[in-house]
Amino acid sequence: MARVALVTGGTRGIGASISAALKAAGYSVASTYGGNDEAAAKFTAETGIGTYKWSVADYDACVDGIARVEADLGPIDVLVNNAGITRDAPFHKMSREQWQEVMDTNLSGVFNMTHPLWPGMRERNFGRVITISSINGQKGQFGQVNYSASKAGDIGFTKALAQEGARHGITVNAICPGYIATEMVMAVPEKVRDSIIASIPVGRLGEPEEIARAVVFLASDDAGFVTGSTMTINGGQYLT
Ligand code: CAA
Ligand code: NAP
Repeated sequence: MARVALVTGGTRGIGASISAALKAAGYSVASTYGGNDEAAAKFTAETGIGTYKWSVADYDACVDGIARVEADLGPIDVLVNNAGITRDAPFHKMSREQWQEVMDTNLSGVFNMTHPLWPGMRERNFGRVITISSINGQKGQFGQVNYSASKAGDIGFTKALAQEGARHGITVNAICPGYIATEMVMAVPEKVRDSIIASIPVGRLGEPEEIARAVVFLASDDAGFVTGSTMTINGGQYLT
């Protein structure tokens, strides 16, 4: 039986590449999204992967959504916490809403998805939890106090939970991508984006597939001894 993988925010950008790469590696894949039905329909037409719509920021919706996925595909072995948003603003202009939306999605969303799946992974003595953090959770970024805090939180979450999963065959890892060519980065003003690219030693943005390949490795049996790690994939922009 194929292992089952769920990718949050799996219909666009990095998540779409992760979903496709996991399918190509033999997993049964479910991809979730938050609201963009058109992108989700296009993704299913192109990949044949089924999609499910709910907000990772809503705990009860996560419980219900996970139950739907498990009824369709079976118990989830691999969780990829990829859904994330930006609400950039310098701190003196940042609203409480901008802070809260980012924390609810990028940090509480990871709790909301992992917590309901954890008992089943413990019972089955196998699981993979892979969370897409960010270079900006490692180094901080002007205009992203909310986002940087949420992504740094994802790293702490990973390091703590890895210690609890280790004896139950569950690995918990984070990936910190640098700037990757998706709509999220294209939303950054062009002048700012150009200066960011100029600061990347390899001289270009990353490609979503370059993150997806790392996820496939972390999900595999070969990665059974890798847990609590923070994998940095950023073209040399920030050396940890
Ligand atoms: N360092 C120092 N100063 C900076 C700066 C920086 N990186 N960026 C802007 N400033 C300065 C400006 O030069 C300006 O200075 P003056 O007042 O002297 O002119 C001042 O800060 C305020 O700038 P603005 O009035 O232009 O501020 P704004 O309200 O328009 O907001 C911003 C600016 C939203 C922060 C904008 O600069 C921006 O979008 N920056 C990019 C932030 C970023 O990197 N986001 C990443 C998105 S992708 C992602 O998050 C994925 C991932 O994980 C990598
Ligand atoms: P993206 O292109 O904007 O796609 C985001 C995906 O997340 C979409 O599928 C979106 O669904 C989904 N999503 C957003 N909020 C959600 C919610 N509340 N509930 C469920 N799904 C939600 O983003 P990306 O650039 O691929 O980024 C993916 C992840 O990588 C994010 O966590 C991001 O922070 C992180 N990251 C990105 C970069 C980068 O440079 N791009 C770098 C480092 C880390 P809809 O389609 O319905 O909106």
